[in-house]
Amino acid sequence: MFTDKIESEDFSKMPEEYRTLLSRVLRIQADFEIGGPHLYVSQWLLSAPSAEEQWKVAKTAAEEIEHFHKINQLLNQIGMDASDRLFVQKADRYVDAFRQEMPTWADWAVFGMLIDRVGQYQLDEFVDCSYVPLARLLPPHDNQILEEEQGHVNFGLLKVMELGRSDEAGSRYRRP
Ligand SMILES: [Fe+2]
Ligand SMILES: [Fe+2]
Repeated sequence: MFTDKIESEDFSKMPEEYRTLLSRVLRIQADFEIGGPHLYVSQWLLSAPSAEEQWKVAKTAAEEIEHFHKINQLLNQIGMDASDRLFVQKADRYVDAFRQEMPTWADWAVFGMLIDRVGQYQLDEFVDCSYVPLARLLPPHDNQILEEEQGHVNFGLLKVMELGRSDEAGSRYRRP
């Protein structure tokens, strides 16, 4: 089992397989972080059905952009950069979930409940990983990113529960 702990200054001494894999994983993670805001900001930031929900869309987008920035800083430390992923079209996203449209508010709710949960699982996999700068973004060193992902999942779950209601709260989710 590989148990070494690698700092950024040791990266260049690592075998090519490790360097390729780490840069690929970080690049996909960066794309995953920025892929969400590309799906919903233009459509839902000022169209979500209440001020609280518009604020939550804005807050979620801000947090994902910060996650992108943190992951991209790790890439920068090893001489790479994922800034090009800030501007790609949906069709070119690495992960299929970010290539879809989000035509109803219900899509936003389900996306938070399911896809942000996948994001949380992915980040969980990096806890105590061999690349120390990445491990430092996660517990037990830092809880911020994972706590924010948990917040996205929780809000999505809350909205999906509203979606199932037949009263006024539920009717907001139906197509006009
Ligand atoms: Fe994120
Ligand atoms: Fe998220």
